[in-house]
Amino acid sequence: MKRLEEMYQVLQFKDFGDERGNLVVIEGSGRDIPFTVQRVFYIYGSDSTVIRGRHANRSSEFVMINVAGKSKVKVDNGIESKVIELDRPMMGLYLSSMLWKDMYDFSPDSILLVMSSEHYDEKEYIRDYDEYIQIMKEQGLE
Ligand code: TYD
Repeated sequence: MKRLEEMYQVLQFKDFGDERGNLVVIEGSGRDIPFTVQRVFYIYGSDSTVIRGRHANRSSEFVMINVAGKSKVKVDNGIESKVIELDRPMMGLYLSSMLWKDMYDFSPDSILLVMSSEHYDEKEYIRDYDEYIQIMKEQGLE
C-alpha cells in the first residue's frame, strides 16, 4: 500500500503579480499539474458546519485550490490521515486516486476550485468508509 505522503502533494503555482494585481498560472498535462484536466467544478456557499467529500475515487485524481477564502481538506489512506489548510489562491493540493477525503471548515467567502483527471462517473466513487478500508486492505495484500 502507498504511504500517505505519496498520495498527495502541496503545489505552488506561479503568481505573476504586479501593480495591476495578481495572475496565477496553472499549466496542465504534466507541467503544473500531473494530469490532463477533463473536468472542473467549484464549491461555494458551504459554511463552517458542513463536511463535504467523504469519499474516495477509484480512478480520478484531483487538484484543489481555494481561489478565494479558506477550507481544510483531511486526507486519509485508511492508516494515516493529515489535514491540509487551503488558504492561498496560488496553493494547490494534488490528490491521487484511492484517497479518502473530507473538505470542511469553509470560510464564508470560500470558493474551492477542483480540477479532475476524469469525467464524472458516480460508479468510481466509494462513499462507504468501511468499504474503502476493505478495498485498501485487499490492495495492501497484493
Ligand atoms: P458530491 O460528490 O456530494 O460533492 P462533494 O464531493 O463536494 O461532497 O456531489 C454533489 C452532487 O453533484 C451529486 O448529486 C453528484 C453531482 N456531481 C456531478 O454531477 N458532477 C460532478 O462532477 C460532481 C463533483 C458532482
